[in-house]
Amino acid sequence: MKVMELSKDLYYVGVVDHALKVFDVAILTKYGTSYNSYLLKTKDGVVVFEGSKEKTEKEYLEHIASLTDFKDIKYLFVTHTEPDHSGAIKALLEKNPDITIVASQGALINLDHILRHDFKKHVAREGEVLEFGGYHFRFVSGIMLHWPDVMFTYIEEKKALVSCDAFGCHYAFDDILLSKLTDEEGYIDAFRYYYEKIMGPFPSYAKKAAEKVLALDLDFVLTGHGPVLDCRIKERASEYLTIGEKFFPSVVKGQVTIVYGSAYGYTRDLAKTIAEALSKAGKTVKLYEIDALNYADLKPEILTSIYKSEMTLLGSPTIAGDAIGLFYDFLCALPSTVGTGRKASAFGDYGWSGEAVPNLTVRLKQLHFNVLEGFKANFALDEAGKKAFEGYISTLLG
Ligand code: FEO
Repeated sequence: MKVMELSKDLYYVGVVDHALKVFDVAILTKYGTSYNSYLLKTKDGVVVFEGSKEKTEKEYLEHIASLTDFKDIKYLFVTHTEPDHSGAIKALLEKNPDITIVASQGALINLDHILRHDFKKHVAREGEVLEFGGYHFRFVSGIMLHWPDVMFTYIEEKKALVSCDAFGCHYAFDDILLSKLTDEEGYIDAFRYYYEKIMGPFPSYAKKAAEKVLALDLDFVLTGHGPVLDCRIKERASEYLTIGEKFFPSVVKGQVTIVYGSAYGYTRDLAKTIAEALSKAGKTVKLYEIDALNYADLKPEILTSIYKSEMTLLGSPTIAGDAIGLFYDFLCALPSTVGTGRKASAFGDYGWSGEAVPNLTVRLKQLHFNVLEGFKANFALDEAGKKAFEGYISTLLG
């Protein structure tokens, strides 16, 4: 892959990697990926958009060098600082230490920590326009897509948006332009998987960004990975308005999810009593009893149900000093933001120690739920235990 002119003086200088199989430890990249970067020649000097991964810096620098002398580069625009884009910045600055890096305040702080030496900087602020070389570069916040330091750049004269990771995907494509792509099925599969894994934990931010992008007059979306959008821009951006609902459904008023396991029936009795009381109070209760045999089949439904629920209740006995391991499987499959604005609590019966409830409570707090104090029972409830349990249920209804 060599450089490609996208529009007069605007070039693709990224690196396509067909061999990558795994990204960020846990994300499969069955279509490979690309680390996209761009170069704009202006009458006053050269502007580069995006760095590259450290591993691909040689090719990145070669692509830039095929178009310009490094000393002519005036600006490097950085949309965010994850190292798959910032890893090669050090090498670029070694070629020309006078380059001014344009990025959000948060990104510049991160770059201080990445580079560990001084560099020229310009803070990009939402709505600000930087004029250079006959071009107007307008900054559009892309906060939490998927890092907190994301700042898109809209190149007004090119009707082009440098969109960081948004609207891209892990899909290695040597012809670069979406208009040249024929593997529609693979591309859409990669696009949706990418959304789910990268943008999915922040669906409201993705929606806001899509609304901003749809308001722009665009010929190109210059993505961070995968094909450059030179067509179907409204279609791809619009998908960000609705796709979140598919992977991360909105809350259904009055819905409560109860997931429980029970070795000898004590925790089952608690779960059923809670479910009955909540149902009587008008809640829609989704009740799941899990065990080693049915869990794999139930997991997708449980995750969806938790997304849709105002409150999630987990009931586990204590086995060998902890909750049933199956709980941690689905609790670790939820994004860490899932509990924001929702309630949760843990309950469970135990024989000789009782760590399940406090341990599940810790995880629920990590998921940012508003966690109500849990309820522990030791074997059968005595009168005092029954009263305490009634109090627990009242708290859940409160
Ligand atoms: Fe492609 Fe967030 O890095």
